[in-house]
Amino acid sequence: MSYELSSSTRVAVIGAGSMGSGIAQLAAQSGHQVLLHDAQPGAGERGLERIAADLDGAVKRGKLADLDRTMILGRIRVAGCLEELEGSGLVVEAIVERLEPKQSLFRTLEPLLSSQAVLATNTSSISVTAVAQGLHHPERVIGWHFFNPAPRMKLVEIIRGVETDPALASALRDLSNAWGKTAVDAPNTPGFIVNRVARPYYAEALRLLAEGVAEASVVDRLLREAGGFAMGPFELMDLIGLDVNLSVSESVFHATAYDPRYAPSILQQELVRSGRLGRKSGCGFYRYGDASEPGIVDTIAPTTAIEPIRVPTELGLLDPLVERLRLAGSVIVQHSQSIHEGLEFGSVRVALTDGRTAAECSAQDGPGLILLDLALDFGKTALIGVTADAAALPHVGALAASLAPAGIALVALEDVAGLVVMRTVCCLANEAADVMTWTGAKAADIDTAMQLGTAYPRGPLSWADGLGCSRVAAVLTHLQAHYGETRYRRAPALSRRHFSRGAFHE
Ligand code: NAI
Repeated sequence: MSYELSSSTRVAVIGAGSMGSGIAQLAAQSGHQVLLHDAQPGAGERGLERIAADLDGAVKRGKLADLDRTMILGRIRVAGCLEELEGSGLVVEAIVERLEPKQSLFRTLEPLLSSQAVLATNTSSISVTAVAQGLHHPERVIGWHFFNPAPRMKLVEIIRGVETDPALASALRDLSNAWGKTAVDAPNTPGFIVNRVARPYYAEALRLLAEGVAEASVVDRLLREAGGFAMGPFELMDLIGLDVNLSVSESVFHATAYDPRYAPSILQQELVRSGRLGRKSGCGFYRYGDASEPGIVDTIAPTTAIEPIRVPTELGLLDPLVERLRLAGSVIVQHSQSIHEGLEFGSVRVALTDGRTAAECSAQDGPGLILLDLALDFGKTALIGVTADAAALPHVGALAASLAPAGIALVALEDVAGLVVMRTVCCLANEAADVMTWTGAKAADIDTAMQLGTAYPRGPLSWADGLGCSRVAAVLTHLQAHYGETRYRRAPALSRRHFSRGAFHE
């Protein structure tokens, strides 16, 4: 079948909450006549007020002409009942996130609409196939997953259920582009792409906190300042709402037949039980409205630099760091004999974490080791996480003294496997590789989705390519050995690239 989706298609949006009103606004901004319906009396009008307030803000900021604001609002009408939606060519549901109401809504609507009308669901976790179940025309049901706030977030995920007509996916992709969005094809599997690949961003942070590796503020600051993420995981969970974040985790856990890798964190469950839901309740990982909001993180006090710093001819990822040291005036000499892959000063070796603890490295390779956490760009970062074995611990201040003139501060971490940024990035890349393996999603789509849907500084698969798939594989192998848990098992798509020395983006 061919689907005519253009600005002359009348759009019906059902559910006038934050997502529904955002989608209605977007449709009207793109020239559609829009009907907005909500089952709760007054909710449609409130949705319309929210849209008007958003457009008013755009007018005040000079981003929208007053006349355009009036035209956009003039295209949206609140529909009091479902019968008024008759004649709509595209229905987007953004009602409560439960299967039964979504199924029942589409079953009620089907006889009111022409057989060509499209039924799109904005569900963030429910199977599109299940939403279409029991309809006469399940082929015109499709997942169209927007991100919050819908008018501004660039990404949409397009999800086909088993029966969805491929031609519809293609038509919806064109419409998404016409609405100014980047569309990616996402598999109809738990969490689609973004909510699935992002799980480790929260889960690893929660484990680091449970293990007592560092305060939430330290983990957040490292992931923001060294990792380049827009927000740290704890401040992000506080913003999303711990209850909402937990329910996505639970839904992925449930839908993966309780794969222990996705087991919800006990720590998070306890916070939710106690009513600490994040910003909306005034308290989550941080307290809001008083001095304990995300704040000061102590860095390691510099002592006296020990020079020269010895480096091998090829340092790889740490090369830009050495260049910064050189420019800042450190005495750098090349050592050709050492088999060690990092820097050396005095009796101390400095290396990038490979997923083993400093204690384990020390036992295997000899004492005197400082481990550095990953940074998105060692040529620019102002902060690096660090740990050391017992022999090197007294010398961490000397390293801080060498790095300070180059504008780099160090944050002390407990001796945890994979540290913070390296472990997070490797787990994100592994999750992305797992999605690739089992769903056939494309590397480019996954990376685009993660950058546009969650503002990651780099797509996780492209990041894995930059680190080298073998390095990522080694970190995961070490994490798995350290914890003895299958949560760190390597995705087949990653292992293949490790053995073949390949990359996700060839
Ligand atoms: P919300 O709770 O703000 O709004 C839902 C609205 O739907 C409410 O106004 C409610 O009265 C109405 N409603 C419930 N059942 C209805 C029914 N049977 N018929 C008509 N109206 C009904 O929820 P929100 O956040 O806007 O989410 C809506 C949907 O969008 C959910 O499926 C959610 O998973 C999905 N979503 C949410 C995102 C978010 O960040 N909040 C992001 C992407 C998707």
